[in-house]
Amino acid sequence: MLRVVVLGAAAGGGLPQWNCACTACRAARKADQVVPQTQSSIAVSADGARWVVVNASPDIRQQFLATRVLHPATGLRSSPLTTVLLTNADVDHVAGLLSLRENHAFTLYATDRVLRVLDSNTIFNVLDRHRVKRLALRLDQIQPVMDAEGGDTGVRVEPFVIPGKIALWLENPDVEGFGSVPEDTIGLALGTAGSRHRLFYLPGCAALPDAIKSRLAPGDSLLFDGTTFTDDEMISSGVGHKSASRMGHLPMSGAGGAVAQWSGVSLGRKLFIHINNTNPVLLPDSPERAFVRAAGWEIAYDGMEFCVE
Ligand code: MLT
Ligand code: MN
Ligand code: ZN
Repeated sequence: MLRVVVLGAAAGGGLPQWNCACTACRAARKADQVVPQTQSSIAVSADGARWVVVNASPDIRQQFLATRVLHPATGLRSSPLTTVLLTNADVDHVAGLLSLRENHAFTLYATDRVLRVLDSNTIFNVLDRHRVKRLALRLDQIQPVMDAEGGDTGVRVEPFVIPGKIALWLENPDVEGFGSVPEDTIGLALGTAGSRHRLFYLPGCAALPDAIKSRLAPGDSLLFDGTTFTDDEMISSGVGHKSASRMGHLPMSGAGGAVAQWSGVSLGRKLFIHINNTNPVLLPDSPERAFVRAAGWEIAYDGMEFCVE
């Protein structure tokens, strides 16, 4: 059985975002029917003692404070954190690595591509390479997730390339696709040695070819990119000039959107995560929230816990 804790459910910026006065941000600031959410990350464990964090959010310090199972339990300086897995090099997924300096030993897994990005940015040397081993994920293979001593955490991961794009802070405006390569964005299928079903974690996904959908077996669960409800949401709500697709995200609604695309796939639980503060599903009485709920989707929230058996 895989234990799952949602450490953060919001997209980059969080809810409320420091410089935003949109409807959801204003309501969250007042804690008026909208609960504040930190930037997206989950923690998973096979034994409840050793925890694997997927993506290191800029809010990781607050997330560790808020999550009892992540508090030190075995020594004066200790942490249940054994491992960090990365799905891409987006700032909202790697900035938290800087907060994990303090001489704790863990393993850091990412694609070769993302490891090269970290290697070329010397600020990540705050993580002592003797204590924090950087390991390349083997794509399309189920592999054990190891702790810093080479022990098996009991968690199994299968990484696979999904449609996406290079991190915004690495974009090259002068080249096709801003310099994106396939390994820029991956999805993860997470389970344990004994679990029947897996949890698919895809917090950023630009499109859904059948080859991705067919990876999920009936009864598997899904945490999927819930950045926006419509493709032009950032533009129409007046906060930005980029569409969801320009940012490498598939909107929830529309004929090609996530709700329609996943509707034919038999799943256990399906949840949206990485939800941008402009997304009307955050508002309790919105028709958009009713629409995704009616389609069988849950909206993940900070502190949410569940198990995948
Ligand atoms: C994204 O999810 O598209 C990125 O986090 C955007 C960003 O880097 O701010
Ligand atoms: Mn993001
Ligand atoms: Zn906002």
